[in-house]
Amino acid sequence: MPEPKPTPSAAARRESVARTLWVALVVSLVCSSLVASAAVLLKPKQVENAQLEMRRNILEVADLPEGAGGIEERFESIEPRVVDLETGAYVDDVDASQFNPIEAARDPNHSVAVPPEIDVARLGRRADRALVYLVRRHGEIHRIILPVWGYGLWSTMYGFVALESDGNTIADITFYSHGETPGLGDFIDEPDWRALWRGKQVFDESGDVAIRVKKGRVSADDPRARFLVDGVSGATLTGNGVTNLMQYWFGEHGYGPYLRELRGGTES
Ligand SMILES: Cc1cc2nc3c(=O)[nH]c(=O)nc-3n(C[C@H](O)[C@H](O)[C@H](O)COP(=O)(O)O)c2cc1C
Repeated sequence: MPEPKPTPSAAARRESVARTLWVALVVSLVCSSLVASAAVLLKPKQVENAQLEMRRNILEVADLPEGAGGIEERFESIEPRVVDLETGAYVDDVDASQFNPIEAARDPNHSVAVPPEIDVARLGRRADRALVYLVRRHGEIHRIILPVWGYGLWSTMYGFVALESDGNTIADITFYSHGETPGLGDFIDEPDWRALWRGKQVFDESGDVAIRVKKGRVSADDPRARFLVDGVSGATLTGNGVTNLMQYWFGEHGYGPYLRELRGGTES
């Protein structure tokens, strides 16, 4: 007859529960420190990749002549300039290659609150200076690339608008970061939709910001067609976000004074 198995004593049971908890604690400590060190170690690489992606998008709207070279090499022919948003004048006491307008907006000494009645892009604050990118051809300005950002339906959408040298005609637009819904709000990434912006005008005859995303299709015989871009059905709210960020950034509190200077021909 087999001998009955001895039942574990209460002390042994307590020891095995304690051991299980101890092992779980050690495993979770090891895993969390692995994850934390990976995050810290990979941070510089992530920042570098984000910067590269931004530059790739700037190059995409810069209309540089075809040429060899990687992103960094091609980016060297683009001239970043810092602009005082209040006066619209260039500022030369700041190193444009190091200036980050999104970080500067968090610095209370170098930023201003956006008055709520004009904060349609839901920025809260903006830096008192901005970074613009000039593309020259034969020494003359060919394109002016302006960073823009503002809230869509779910996220802040970050992009660039490239203007022709007249400071009014849109040459191209690109969004390099947003969290709008794939298949709905992400139409802003689609080449066909971006193409609709080319040749559109930002300012009307009175100098008001007239560009907007319309709900539905723009009819060719609409007298304001040159200021309107087709919206996308089922994703009107993201389109409204794009209208809002254009309204803010091209308005008086945004690039308005700078572009007026530029259109007045006083650009140096
Ligand atoms: C899960 C979910 C995700 C959505 N994502 C977006 C979006 O990214 N952008 C957007 O404009 N609308 C999005 N919508 C739809 C909006 O809630 C809204 O119905 C739509 O923008 C209205 O556009 P319409 O007037 O052309 O129908 C989403 C809806 C749901 C249920």
